[in-house]
Amino acid sequence: MDKVELDQVYRGDLERLIDKVVQARGLDLTQYRRPYVERRIAARLRSLNLHTYRQYARALDSDPDEYARLLDTLTINVTDFFRDTPVYELFRSQIVPGIVDTKLRGRHRMIRVWSAGCATGEEAYSLAMSFLDAIGDNASRFVLTILATDIDPSVLETAKLATYDIAKLSHIPEADRHFVDEGPATFTIKREVTSHVKFRVLDLFRDEPVNVVDVVFCRNVFIYFTREQQERVLELFWKALSRDGYLVLGRSEKMSPALSERFEAVSGRERIYRKRPPKS
Ligand SMILES: C[S@@+](CC[C@H](N)C(=O)[O-])C[C@H]1O[C@@H](n2cnc3c(N)ncnc32)[C@H](O)[C@@H]1O
Repeated sequence: MDKVELDQVYRGDLERLIDKVVQARGLDLTQYRRPYVERRIAARLRSLNLHTYRQYARALDSDPDEYARLLDTLTINVTDFFRDTPVYELFRSQIVPGIVDTKLRGRHRMIRVWSAGCATGEEAYSLAMSFLDAIGDNASRFVLTILATDIDPSVLETAKLATYDIAKLSHIPEADRHFVDEGPATFTIKREVTSHVKFRVLDLFRDEPVNVVDVVFCRNVFIYFTREQQERVLELFWKALSRDGYLVLGRSEKMSPALSERFEAVSGRERIYRKRPPKS
């Protein structure tokens, strides 16, 4: 076989493998950039000491737990409390107090925040702490809900435990540390915070989205998506946001020009945007 033929066999095997994963687990690998999928599968091949996609397809048949390992490899779950200090500084000093004030003046005392791609939950708890801090003595006048979703069920199991390595405690601002119970090696987020956070498995491309939210945090999730998929998800967030709602993206994630009419930049640098009303 010459190189072109070999390349075709290789592509065909990869497509069949991707189909197999979609059929078996409903995990739609076509949503990720192809070179990214290839790199992640290559990592699994290396750790199993395999050389071809066909061998890997057989490994999936003989050990169905391998599907979970593949999902783990694809969805890199790195995260932290108050990740990216400047973003949270702006969010906590301007956006959160603004939302709380508007709600206090209005009739609806419901605050709903969506952490889309929440991984092990640090972002969701950071958001809950930020709002609880701002609400302070007015707590009983609000219904605060953080809807935290991720495609990967295993990270959500960790998130629900709300227990983290003690090394992460220093990433929580001093003022918010009263929300944790500290042990020697780990700390646990108190129930007064966790009771506001609801975790749910949700694939941004396949599942019914969350709706009517004041804020969407979707940070460090877009990086895996193609431009068209980013636009699809931005459109979904626009619909999910209530009037004047905020969208916060990751530092390396830009607003797509195709959607820039729908969102106004509050801070282009920190990737904080506000929903614009539909054009009449
Ligand atoms: C790097 S983590 C980001 C965690 C957190 N948002 C942050 O910025 O620290 C990316 C998360 O996106 C999730 N993810 C990837 N593709 C997804 C999809 N199609 N739908 C929902 N979540 C997805 C992954 O499982 C992973 O937990």
